[in-house]
Amino acid sequence: MRDLSRFVRPVVLASKKYNLDRFKLRREEFLEMDANENPFLPTPGVLKAMTETTPRLNRYPLLECPDLRDKIASFVSLKADNVLVSDGSMRLIDLVMSTFIDPADEAILPLPTYTPYETRLISRGGKPVYVDPKPNFRWDIEGIRKAVTSRTKLIIIVSPNNPSGAAISESELKELLNEGYITVVDEAYFLFGDHDFGHLVPQERNLIIARTFSKAFGLAGLRVGYAISSEELIHYMLQMNVGWVDRITSRIAEVALDDIGYVKENVRRIIEGRKYLFDELSRIDGLRPFPSESNGILIRIEADFTGPEIMNTLRDQHHILVREMTNFTGLDDKYFRITVGTMQQNMQTIGAVKEFVRSKRMTPTAPQTAQSR
Ligand SMILES: Cc1ncc(COP(=O)(O)O)c(C=O)c1O
Repeated sequence: MRDLSRFVRPVVLASKKYNLDRFKLRREEFLEMDANENPFLPTPGVLKAMTETTPRLNRYPLLECPDLRDKIASFVSLKADNVLVSDGSMRLIDLVMSTFIDPADEAILPLPTYTPYETRLISRGGKPVYVDPKPNFRWDIEGIRKAVTSRTKLIIIVSPNNPSGAAISESELKELLNEGYITVVDEAYFLFGDHDFGHLVPQERNLIIARTFSKAFGLAGLRVGYAISSEELIHYMLQMNVGWVDRITSRIAEVALDDIGYVKENVRRIIEGRKYLFDELSRIDGLRPFPSESNGILIRIEADFTGPEIMNTLRDQHHILVREMTNFTGLDDKYFRITVGTMQQNMQTIGAVKEFVRSKRMTPTAPQTAQSR
């Protein structure tokens, strides 16, 4: 057989490899503290809806999911025409790129950012224009404004950010919106934080907010996301939408919205767990956690070991998954991220991190070790 790679598009061959090793593990056998998932099961109503027979399964679902779209519209206090439902917010990323990006068009990506924005942009022939962050991963608003060119189409803001957990302020976002480009704010984690920019949609026609049921709603296994934006931009994106949400999924998402009180209680527990993790990590010499408005905490390693090292040791010796960050443009091997779990999982993870850091200090070759002894 001839080499099949010659048929593959160059952007695919050159693309950053997603770390597929993570998916070869039997994940249920580990403490999963690496993928920013929610450790709590979805609401009892959701579990019940899954076991009930949904009528009309013999019929195709409606692409626009009118019932779910209406429910989301009332959840976000907007009109149904301001809402687009999709099968996961990852699909929204593709949708944004296919609606706005032609080859050589530019999108401004303040770093660090959620990697699929970069890979999906490049896969369409678009050009990422990176802007480095200010200290503590704050957005460099002036830097972003200076980065626009005649080819700029999009500005991508992930807030609360994955991986940093930082959230942009309303005044900073408004400054960017005033530039007039399509501005995407990925709010996958907004329910864990103090910022929600949905109220800006009626006045800011160039704003697209992308959200998901995967995080606070604890439905990552279901695949539902939604965009809210001006009627005009929703209309354009609907032209390109191929992300069908099936009838059962859309019914379950409706039920989850009805049970918002349960969701908020789980969010409260995650925020409590986040505070515990942050406080404990802050006390460990050589680790610097960053304040977070998401369900993950990014940690900088200011000691003589690396993110891949702590990830591998926690996995192999403690059966705990955390995430190293070399896959994220702008971060290096001195970072790792821990997802907030149940309190018991958080405590177990902190115990393992402490044991790892202690063992590193005992290693005679580490220069810092000698000083701290
Ligand atoms: C910022 C951000 N956006 C989108 C997603 C994807 O979410 P979904 O499960 O809806 O595809 C993630 C998942 O980790 C994320 O971190």
